[in-house]
Amino acid sequence: MELQDKTFEDYQKTYQHSVDKPEEFWAGIAENFYWRRKWNNVLSWNFKEPAIKWFEGAKVNITENCLDRHIYNLGDKPAIIWEPNDPNEAYRVLSYKQLLGKVEQFANVLKNNGIHKGDRVCLYLPMVPELAIAVLACARIGAIHSVVFGGFSAQSIADRINDATCKLVITADGGFRGTKTIDLKNIVDDALVQCKSVERVIVLTRTRTPVAMLKGRDVWWEDEIKKVETQGNPAYPAEEMDAEDTLFILYTSGSTGKPKGVVHTTGGYMVYTGYTFSNAFQYQPGEVYFCTADIGWITGHSYIIYGPLSQGATSLMFEGVPSWPDSGRLWDIVAKHRVNIIYTAPTAIRSLMAAGDEYVEGKDLSSITKLGSVGEPLNEEAWHWFDEKIGKGKAPIVDTYWQTETGGFLISPIAGVTPTKPGYALLPLPGVQPILVDEQGAEITGNGVSGNLCIKFPWPGMLRTTWGDHERCRQTYFSTYENLYFTGDGCLRDESGYYRITGRVDDVLNVSGHRIGTAEVENAINMHSDVVESAVVGYPHPVKGQGIYAFVVSGEHHQIDTELARQDINKTVARIIGAIAKPDKIQFVSGLPKTRSGKIMRRILRKIAEGDTSNLGDTSTLLDPEVVNEIKAGALTGEKTS
Ligand code: PRX
Repeated sequence: MELQDKTFEDYQKTYQHSVDKPEEFWAGIAENFYWRRKWNNVLSWNFKEPAIKWFEGAKVNITENCLDRHIYNLGDKPAIIWEPNDPNEAYRVLSYKQLLGKVEQFANVLKNNGIHKGDRVCLYLPMVPELAIAVLACARIGAIHSVVFGGFSAQSIADRINDATCKLVITADGGFRGTKTIDLKNIVDDALVQCKSVERVIVLTRTRTPVAMLKGRDVWWEDEIKKVETQGNPAYPAEEMDAEDTLFILYTSGSTGKPKGVVHTTGGYMVYTGYTFSNAFQYQPGEVYFCTADIGWITGHSYIIYGPLSQGATSLMFEGVPSWPDSGRLWDIVAKHRVNIIYTAPTAIRSLMAAGDEYVEGKDLSSITKLGSVGEPLNEEAWHWFDEKIGKGKAPIVDTYWQTETGGFLISPIAGVTPTKPGYALLPLPGVQPILVDEQGAEITGNGVSGNLCIKFPWPGMLRTTWGDHERCRQTYFSTYENLYFTGDGCLRDESGYYRITGRVDDVLNVSGHRIGTAEVENAINMHSDVVESAVVGYPHPVKGQGIYAFVVSGEHHQIDTELARQDINKTVARIIGAIAKPDKIQFVSGLPKTRSGKIMRRILRKIAEGDTSNLGDTSTLLDPEVVNEIKAGALTGEKTS
């Protein structure tokens, strides 16, 4: 079976087939991959436990699909183009052959450092090719990688390492982001004070930041590579994995205080990311594809590394930020490397749009044929700017809707094949069966309706469990509505049957495309010694999509409503979670609106944060209705940040 639908009729036929005979459909897609041994059974599943198995009995290694199988035809073609933070530093190109060589070399490093199949390895690295190499080397030997985004704090790293009992950490002395240098190794050192399971730390040289290398624990990446070279750089045949062996863990925020380790397995994830990449982007051989995400998030896993490489694509990775040295950087990269497909996030589009068209004008964007967006709803204004200024009205925009848990795209246009509509993720990809339900779980049928978005049939890329806590997986995704996977998102289906994601319906914020749980931020704020309690809600933010608004009750010093107190709280949050979770606004209040049973009425706080205090609904059940007037009076309106 072909991986790409070429016409809308093709898509409709494929879609129908995928619903009528899902197993036959996915077996046909899976035939496009290399399996050491084929499956006995395409799918077994129930959403009750949940227990989901794809391609059971099959033997496979994802790196053979991403590397070895391309060597004959594409060996000298670029697999990865790396653009450094500083445009004056030389860029790097790794052909498929070179990338395979480096992955095998680092697989040997892992082996020399006592890592075996099933061991957990934490990666905390900047966006350099070595991050992709380390990820693939883990997959090659069957070790489970857990990549932690470079913006997370020592505490967040420690929590993730301990949850997965990682044996090894791979980091760098530091990382460059715009004008900043981030001292990654120092942050890891702070984290490891709390981590007993870590036996070894491999440190890559990137920034030449001074670091403390602990004898017996810390080794340099470069020294370890030299050892393998003196061993004669032996090949490292890929470990044979079961299709359902765990490939990686990636932590993500939910509505409770503690991030969950989303578990993806090997065979289904490989098939799903490869298929969706190929089809949605209509990737053509030789095209240069540039995803601006960080490998620390699921987008980088699925659509910088695994999806594109399994399809023999050229994947461009970028170390820096879109705004440095100026807001034309992404467009300079497009011109320099003749990028054909650019896949980015609404927050980046909005901030570049706000910076002004002078950064786009005069840039050679003639290579661009397709555009993509992910992470949050792409508002119409940004959609049109992206379409006109970047795509010059000729490049279809695929607004891909998906999640860490889904592994790959669920609802998305197919470039040039299905229509597009600003603000819409459009139609489910083949194999995906969305359903809208009301609060009670009853299906909402027909068009021109809204509801909570669920998926009623498994797809190969879906999560299998949450690490170390299967019950949490069941409760979070499979217990709200019987026999359905619940996304946590609200959704509208318009008169044409097109889907528009309207945002989270739970206590999860989406700040610049980063998922942040309100409870997590509250826990962090409450760690500050002067804070009694707090409540965090989101509010519309012109660039970030959502901003973080914190209502804080402070102790005896609550009268000290000063800039310093705000900065202290921000520091605390940055320390506990990371700078990405710092509140944009902090309002000190003497109390929170609570019901008599002690529940915080978030609905009221959300309205106040949105600046809409005209109709706060029924406040008569509040313990102290007066507190609402005080909060209203002190509300931080406008774009003044804390
Ligand atoms: O609310 C949806 C939003 O991002 C959430 C998933 O976040 P995360 O797991 O961090 O993954 C982000 C990258 C896949 C979803 O529940 N979201 C993601 N893509 C879109 C979106 N909202 C609207 N439109 C999208 N295209």
